[in-house]
Amino acid sequence: MNYKIAVLPGDGIGPEITTEAVKVLKAIGEKFNHTFEFTEALIGAVAIDQTGNPFPDETLDLCKKSDAVLFGAIGDPKYDNDPNAKIRPEQGLLKMRKDLGLYANIRPVTTFPSLIDKSPLRADIVEGVNFVVIRELTGGIYFGEPRGRSEDGKTAFDTSVYSVNEIERITDLAITYAKKRNKKLTVVDKANVLATSRLWRETTQKMAENNKDIEFEYMFVDNASMQLIQNPRAFDVMVTENMFGDILTDEASVITGSLGLLPSASVGLLTSVFEPIHGSYPQAKGLNIANPVATILSAAMLLESLDLQTEANVIKDAVNSSLEQQIVTEDLSKHKAYSTSDVGDWIVEEIIT
Ligand code: IPM
Ligand code: MG
Repeated sequence: MNYKIAVLPGDGIGPEITTEAVKVLKAIGEKFNHTFEFTEALIGAVAIDQTGNPFPDETLDLCKKSDAVLFGAIGDPKYDNDPNAKIRPEQGLLKMRKDLGLYANIRPVTTFPSLIDKSPLRADIVEGVNFVVIRELTGGIYFGEPRGRSEDGKTAFDTSVYSVNEIERITDLAITYAKKRNKKLTVVDKANVLATSRLWRETTQKMAENNKDIEFEYMFVDNASMQLIQNPRAFDVMVTENMFGDILTDEASVITGSLGLLPSASVGLLTSVFEPIHGSYPQAKGLNIANPVATILSAAMLLESLDLQTEANVIKDAVNSSLEQQIVTEDLSKHKAYSTSDVGDWIVEEIIT
């Protein structure tokens, strides 16, 4: 088959890690006789530097025409340290989510047996952790209006908005995941305080009535953040709103011991975007030291979205071998670290032989 893939390297280490993922997809293409047609476009700080716009229209058009989007990372310290900057790289990411209707962010959290000792948690807590967080991505306080400052500038406000439709749409997807997995769905909210959370709970409780084969569990977000550390194995599928999902997925990601390992998918109405969950790691830019595995595993999720499950499994197996054989970047091995491109090359070799 022939697939059109948009590649948005973005900022910091983005170009280096997407290069490795593209290499891996090409190897899969050769092995399984698929043609992946890659086209690059701008997003983030590089897009601001070159066009003044963090998510240019050409990039949006390319994404809409593509079967899937592979995305690196966004963010540059020169903007982080200037609170008055009017245009920020992150706006590009939020605009991409909105314009492509990327309503669901899917972040699987699994531990890799060979890396258990890298986790900040005890091995007996993290062994066998395997859950997925489904974060609503185009609603809530990230996008609600009104937002801004009072006229005298002394008060600021944001608004969190959710409609029944938005809650049903994301919960439907979460139910699909729960059905394919261990049939447990944890709905995380703050229904003891927030009106939006009460609507989430009311709506999801109704959906639970029609999905009796799934065990619905309701948890306040503060408790969920604690349970994630105390007993992460208890989770199967977690669904939550935008801001809670942002915070909980960062917390969840460190359970595995390296941020550099976890992929994500943002499922959209027009296309879907696949990206590592880590950021642009500007300190490592151009040094060929960043871990490409999260992006390579994101490429595997991309293949799954195209119904290429066997191909995706080949990538996952190759990654597992690389971890077992310690072909890893410096975040995972201080004494014998491989470079970003060495790890990519090794995984490609493993795939084609
Ligand atoms: C993420 C990031 C973004 C978010 C930032 C960069 C806007 O933290 O994808 O989780 O808050 O959604
Ligand atoms: Mg985040």
